[in-house]
Amino acid sequence: MSNRFLMCQPQYFDVSYVINPWMTDNVHRVGRAQATEQWAALHALVRNAAEVELIDPEPGLPDMPFTANAGLVVGGRALVSNFRHPERQTEEQHFERWFRDHGYNVHRLERALSFEGAGDALLDRERGCIWMGYGHRSQREAAAPIQQVFDLEVVPLELTDPRFYHLDTCFCPLPRGYVMYFPDAFSEDSQALLQRRIPAAQTIRVSEEDALRFACNAVNIGDQIILNGASEPLREALSQAGFRTVQSSFSEFLRAGGASKCLTLRLEDVA
Ligand code: ARG
Repeated sequence: MSNRFLMCQPQYFDVSYVINPWMTDNVHRVGRAQATEQWAALHALVRNAAEVELIDPEPGLPDMPFTANAGLVVGGRALVSNFRHPERQTEEQHFERWFRDHGYNVHRLERALSFEGAGDALLDRERGCIWMGYGHRSQREAAAPIQQVFDLEVVPLELTDPRFYHLDTCFCPLPRGYVMYFPDAFSEDSQALLQRRIPAAQTIRVSEEDALRFACNAVNIGDQIILNGASEPLREALSQAGFRTVQSSFSEFLRAGGASKCLTLRLEDVA
């Protein structure tokens, strides 16, 4: 099956409020032309290797290009996000409508549970589980209902560093059971759990320096890994594991706390 991704043009993208540490000091400091170019470069890279669907951007919703947070899609089911911050809650209705109009079986969690979609819930195809980050945006209590919606094991991981507020900022499951992640973003218990569940030979540890340039926030299509930047040792480790790294700058989106992976939502995930 070919890969499909949902993206949203950054026409109204900006840093208009502060809901994560990356946004501090960046309010209205986004380079518009540069952001447009960076998004277009990603769109072209993804289009080369996969299908891309577009949702119309909405004025007044500056974070909408981060479609990873629309919801979680696995095998025809779409669980729409419940954003933690009121600033992003208006996005929910637009994403929900898009999923309905495109034939998805749409699910919602009860309003009181916050859950930020594929920003915090990542399918591990090899293990047939969903890794779920909690502690900043999504709540641990969302794990059981998510498990019910998708009928897949949900493994909660506690995020403890505010700079890595979504799971996809510090953790990236890859084909063949590889997982690249930055251990220090997780509580000690979650680090121990990761060590138990992911064999050392499949673990690609990311340094703080690479994590801070959003290396874990990577779009994976086949053997390609599209990311903002990675050190030589990390590129070497990925290459050893059979992956080709494609670097493209997302400097303007980093000001909002996101990079390539946040700007896409994988639509064809089948466990
Ligand atoms: N400014 C957005 C927020 O704080 C960035 C979202 C990035 N998305 C992601 N999947 N990490 O919600």
